[in-house]
Amino acid sequence: MSFDLDRLAEELQKKIWSQFSDVVIDHANNPRNIGSIEEADGYASVTGLCGDTIQIWLKVKDGRISQITFWTDGCGTTIAAGSMVTELAKGKTLPEALQITPRDVLDALGGLPEESVHCAFLAANALHEAIKDYQKSQVRDSVQD
Ligand code: FES
Repeated sequence: MSFDLDRLAEELQKKIWSQFSDVVIDHANNPRNIGSIEEADGYASVTGLCGDTIQIWLKVKDGRISQITFWTDGCGTTIAAGSMVTELAKGKTLPEALQITPRDVLDALGGLPEESVHCAFLAANALHEAIKDYQKSQVRDSVQD
């Protein structure tokens, strides 16, 4: 008996993705702002309880996030959450970006299944830690001046 492996894989993929919004699928398949930034102003690497890590790099110009990128070793939902949090933070002032919550990430993604909600928390935490890293470097620089 033979069967079409490609078709089976495609059907399985469809079934898996059926619980996710179109926005999640889009960001998981075409992540925005992926990669790193050389000589970033702020950087953080945060690992969640599930073992997935999100890294965020950012550049700040005139008090705003002028450039922001991410990388993750996580699954599609983690990729979508990292992609969305960078989209939400881009161009924001630091206080505005610090107010981005996991709920904002979830809402922008059109929601996530219960078991994937923590991906939004990991993404928001990584963003906040990267901003704090930048703020700490500013304090260090002002002490040295
Ligand atoms: S599965 Fe753990 S952060 Fe997404």
